[in-house]
Amino acid sequence: MGQARLALPLPVLLLPLLLRAPTTSAANANWMYLGLVGVPPPLQQAAPSGGSGEGEGLDVILDDPELAEARAVCGSLPGLIGAQTNVCMEHPSAIKSIAEGARRGIQECQFQFRHERWNCSTNEHEQSVFGYILERGSKETAFIYAVTSAGVAHAVTQACSGGELTDCGCDPGISDQRTTPQGWKWGGCSDNLHYGLQFSRKFVDAPERTKPNSGDPKARKQFAVRARMNLHNNEAGRQVVSSLLRMHCRCHGVSGSCELKTCWRTLPAFSEVGDLLKRKYRQAVQITASRGRRRMRRKSKNPRSGSNQSNRGGRNKWKRSLSKGDLVHIHKSPDYCVTDPARGIAGTSGRACNKTGSGAQSCDLLCCGRGYNTQVVKHVERCHCKFVWCCYVTCKTCETVMDRHTCK
Ligand SMILES: *[C@@H]1O[C@H](CO)[C@@H](O)[C@H](O)[C@H]1NC(C)=O
Ligand SMILES: *[C@@H]1O[C@H](CO)[C@@H](O)[C@H](O)[C@H]1NC(C)=O
Ligand SMILES: *[C@@H]1O[C@H](CO)[C@@H](O)[C@H](O)[C@H]1NC(C)=O
Repeated sequence: MGQARLALPLPVLLLPLLLRAPTTSAANANWMYLGLVGVPPPLQQAAPSGGSGEGEGLDVILDDPELAEARAVCGSLPGLIGAQTNVCMEHPSAIKSIAEGARRGIQECQFQFRHERWNCSTNEHEQSVFGYILERGSKETAFIYAVTSAGVAHAVTQACSGGELTDCGCDPGISDQRTTPQGWKWGGCSDNLHYGLQFSRKFVDAPERTKPNSGDPKARKQFAVRARMNLHNNEAGRQVVSSLLRMHCRCHGVSGSCELKTCWRTLPAFSEVGDLLKRKYRQAVQITASRGRRRMRRKSKNPRSGSNQSNRGGRNKWKRSLSKGDLVHIHKSPDYCVTDPARGIAGTSGRACNKTGSGAQSCDLLCCGRGYNTQVVKHVERCHCKFVWCCYVTCKTCETVMDRHTCK
């Protein structure tokens, strides 16, 4: 009897666990929360709290040490939906990389937007991480989805190469020792991006593939449209990682002659991914969700299209088709100028700005025309340092005075 039960598929075993999961998490908790808090320590071997009728399933889990361990790791994670907990149960060693991927994505977002009105700030006390901005469906929403999805693909791939995961290693597809027509061999450890991409699809995309229970047709349609937007941006983020994959080669042979060359593929630094995604953010395409359920299309009033749509060939010119690598959004961005606590928008008051610059960080743009305050700030530094024989350094202290401008 016990034997037969062990053969049940994982989701069935998980059911009692999931049903009992506390429903404390705030509305729209999100897996990205792992990027803020990391992976919490595994649950203590929870004694089955005197429940009714659910003890049986639990016993089976505890019979199997691997399952018990997976449950201890995956059972306590904040922000995950059921399908993501299932992925965790199947690959418990990967959960650290998922958290690392989210962390990388959030950190890169904050770096890329450090000078802008919206600076990608997060809320550590909310499992939704970005709150309203993640719900909005604007360009910023698109960037967040793309960069965190890319982060997971990147971190999981790196963990594969580092031997940290049980289910993957170097790319097996190109590790065989065949010589290519160009006369070099694949060698070393090529990063297994294929695995990282698949993993990101499975885990990061899961919430978009989970239909809401709500019977309200309007809510369902809205969910479907947003799901399509999110899936598109998730994939665009992953595609950026793919497009930046590099080949490295090393020469072998007597005194530097390149008789034999071995080559392998490596991941780009994540900052390169961030740079390219930021460029895509600037050119993000606004879409409308119409014409059936499957198609997305560019919203026709495209500000970049110029005004000569009715001219010769105009229609086709401005209606550039949507490409897989574009970031897409449905709604316009709020202006982010004014504090709006209900939506978690901090506003730009108090932000440091550049009086002379002309970019996003300029006081003109960042302060939204409200003007700025000027403070004189003193910097005290060690300076004129001298090396004294032997062996210490003497320095003077220098004071510099600078103006610091902050938005009103
Ligand atoms: C974003 O700006 C706010 C001020 O508006 C500041 O408090 C916060 O630390 C900044 N966040 C980041 C991530 O730079
Ligand atoms: C639009 O067409 C008019 C002539 O029909 C031309 O003078 C104008 O420069 C064009 N504008 C753009 C943005 O191409
Ligand atoms: C302000 O912008 C100017 C020109 O872009 C730049 O040279 C300067 O270093 C910036 N100042 C600060 C404090 O960032």
